[in-house]
Amino acid sequence: MKILGIETSCDETGVAVYSESEGLVSELLYSQIRLHKEFGGIIPELASRDHAQRLAGMTQKVLEQADLKMIDIDGIAYTLGPGLIGALLVGTSFASSLALKYEKKLLPVHHMEGHLFAPFIKQDIKYPFIALLVSGGHSLLVLVKSFKDYTVIGRSIDDAVGECFDKVARMLDLDYPGGPEIDRHAKMGNSDQYKFPRPLIHNGLNFSFSGLKTAVRYQVEKLNDQGFHLQDYIHDICASFQEAAIESLHHKCVKACKEFNVDNLIISGGVAANTRLRALFSESKNLNVIFPEFKLCTDNGAMIAYAGYLNFINNVTMDDIYSPRPRWDLNQLCKESSLDG
Ligand code: KG4
Ligand code: ZN
Repeated sequence: MKILGIETSCDETGVAVYSESEGLVSELLYSQIRLHKEFGGIIPELASRDHAQRLAGMTQKVLEQADLKMIDIDGIAYTLGPGLIGALLVGTSFASSLALKYEKKLLPVHHMEGHLFAPFIKQDIKYPFIALLVSGGHSLLVLVKSFKDYTVIGRSIDDAVGECFDKVARMLDLDYPGGPEIDRHAKMGNSDQYKFPRPLIHNGLNFSFSGLKTAVRYQVEKLNDQGFHLQDYIHDICASFQEAAIESLHHKCVKACKEFNVDNLIISGGVAANTRLRALFSESKNLNVIFPEFKLCTDNGAMIAYAGYLNFINNVTMDDIYSPRPRWDLNQLCKESSLDG
């Protein structure tokens, strides 16, 4: 069985084919980073246009790479939400037109369910697990007991952690996206130099990052007001900021695993590519920490193809699969999905 996966929720166009017998057989990813770089953030209109321009050609190429034709495909998985409405509309229209023309099963996927199972494209799924999903739009802690049994046990009450990396990078005049830039500069800095706050760290399982962002802003303003060159302090600011953000994530994960008596911890989403995060979590005793491979941390078509495959084999059905959902809570997904048709 082979599933074509299409991801267009934000600024990456991803197309891939997942095969039940061979695993990931073909994948292509186009990042729009250069398109949005000059604006310092994503311009939704440009994102939609770019997805529309590339999807057909990339799909053709992905099939060619695997020596497949549409007739060999059993289902078409696509991101129904959450994400940018225009970008989601492009992927949804493209996937449903293909499904109509070739009479294939249409498999709507929740983008975060894609991230949730991305580590298992290459290894067996271990239930129960706790997942830390950290990206530009989300910071979620999810208890996963089985397929479609997901409970969000923690979330950011303000900025997503990736968003916070991006905003801090902008304050420091670093390139977009800010996460990889901060990660790179932090390697040359001293993380004890500035004592940035870890909001809510001792309080429940929710996260908060906006106070941390503001504390960095005050520090940057202070250095500027005192006539210092920000450039000379950038490594230490990045290292100290990153340490505060990653420590907050780590603390909550350890707490959640203890509270729910679970030792498998999945970390996925763009921020899971962070090298300090990987190092800190890998040191955690008593936890079996599982990451997707680096290229599957950020948005991609492979995770959508794989989540689509899981939906296919579990006969998941859902209503209203042609209307993209820019906002879509993971808890809601479980309530509205019916298993075994
Ligand atoms: O999952 P993703 O590709 O897209 C969303 O669904 O948002 O995540 C993108 C986010 C961006 O905020 C980016 O700055 C962050 O992931 N990111 C990182 C790193 N690589 C990407 N954050 C910290 N360290 C990294 N190495
Ligand atoms: Zn994502």
